[in-house]
Amino acid sequence: MITFENVTKQYPDGTTAVDSLNLRIEPESFTVFVGPSGCGKTTSMRMINRMIAPTSGVITVDGKNIAHSDAVTLRRGIGYVIQSAGLLPHRTVVDNVATVPVLRGESRRAARTAALGVLERVGLDPAMASRYPAQLSGGQQQRVGVARALAADPPILLMDEPFSAVDPVVREDLQTEMLRLQAELKKTIVFVTHDIDEAVRLGDTIAVFGPAGRLQQYDRPETVLSSPATDFVASFVGRDRGYRGLSFRTAGAVPIHDIETSMTEDLENLRLEQGQWVLVVTAERTPLGWIDVTGVEGIRAGRSFEQSTAAGGSLFPVGGDLRQALDAAISSPSGIGVAIDRSGAVVGSVDGAEILEHLAAQRKAEDEARNSHHFDTLSLGKDGTS
Ligand SMILES: Nc1ncnc2c1ncn2[C@@H]1O[C@H](COP(=O)(O)OP(=O)(O)OP(=O)(O)O)[C@@H](O)[C@H]1O
Ligand SMILES: [Mg+2]
Repeated sequence: MITFENVTKQYPDGTTAVDSLNLRIEPESFTVFVGPSGCGKTTSMRMINRMIAPTSGVITVDGKNIAHSDAVTLRRGIGYVIQSAGLLPHRTVVDNVATVPVLRGESRRAARTAALGVLERVGLDPAMASRYPAQLSGGQQQRVGVARALAADPPILLMDEPFSAVDPVVREDLQTEMLRLQAELKKTIVFVTHDIDEAVRLGDTIAVFGPAGRLQQYDRPETVLSSPATDFVASFVGRDRGYRGLSFRTAGAVPIHDIETSMTEDLENLRLEQGQWVLVVTAERTPLGWIDVTGVEGIRAGRSFEQSTAAGGSLFPVGGDLRQALDAAISSPSGIGVAIDRSGAVVGSVDGAEILEHLAAQRKAEDEARNSHHFDTLSLGKDGTS
């Protein structure tokens, strides 16, 4: 467990970077510090491993005031990952990962063998192990950065905007990898980002920091979205917070309907009515795009596939959440959301209106559950029985 008790950091020039921070970070939790630039996220994080000393207040790790513990010993239990990955350019990937274990006295050979295992864990091809950092993509370098922090198996992992320099697709992969790793390793992770989507996706708990280094809200992500504690939080999480909140609701009971599909070679013979859309799929039923009557005429007139079809929207993985389901429906050129299975094959369609009905039903059930709980409490209070 990590606690901040009334922690303030003022830099020598008078800037208050963190103002009276009180926070309790549970063991094995994934906590995200989120907020706009300059609100004190990095400063707060670096006080945990004593890279920065607080001006006042107390920070404890496992019940001990860290001001009284040895900084080297403290840092041994804390991995640290930064945006640029911070790899040593003149050492190979495997040696970068083995650095700390070797410093600690492990034999180079044992450390390298262990490092290969960690690289595999973070989803990196072992063939990359003998490369130098400059020979890797940004996303691969980040994976090495995570592997290096994990190599010494510290119970605490600090990550300061580790994925902010990579493109959105790689970033999503890295996030998925982090969630998988955390489910397996159960570290106490503190993760800094200024991206609310990333915070909501990764955090068990998120701490929203605001102007002048003041903590605005510390809650589960769904609560931050549904009940922002301050105007600042409401504006920070954005106007579409209701939409983001859908990611915490299951789409399990949303009906999957049959969907009309066609393979590329059959397009010429399709007979469609005005306003009717058909999904073009491969032999493996991977979606390729949508086509309507105009597109079919185009194909017959010899126009290319790309000119005749509309690119598909986002896809709804069966078993996913309401946000994915609704997004699939509203981003689809046909208005029909495409549902796929784990292998990426089309299994059917979801309907936007039905998704909203489903949301309304979930909310109604929650309201009723709340009310009946309230009623139970009342009757218990009256006569002492339930
Ligand atoms: N060494 C320093 N000396 C003086 N002021 C500093 C120093 N380091 C940070 N600050 C200031 O403290 C405040 C908080 O900085 P910090 O780096 O903690 O913010 P942050 O939330 O991590 O921002 P970002 O999202 O841009 O990384 C900022 O106003 C910053 O300018
Ligand atoms: Mg920062």
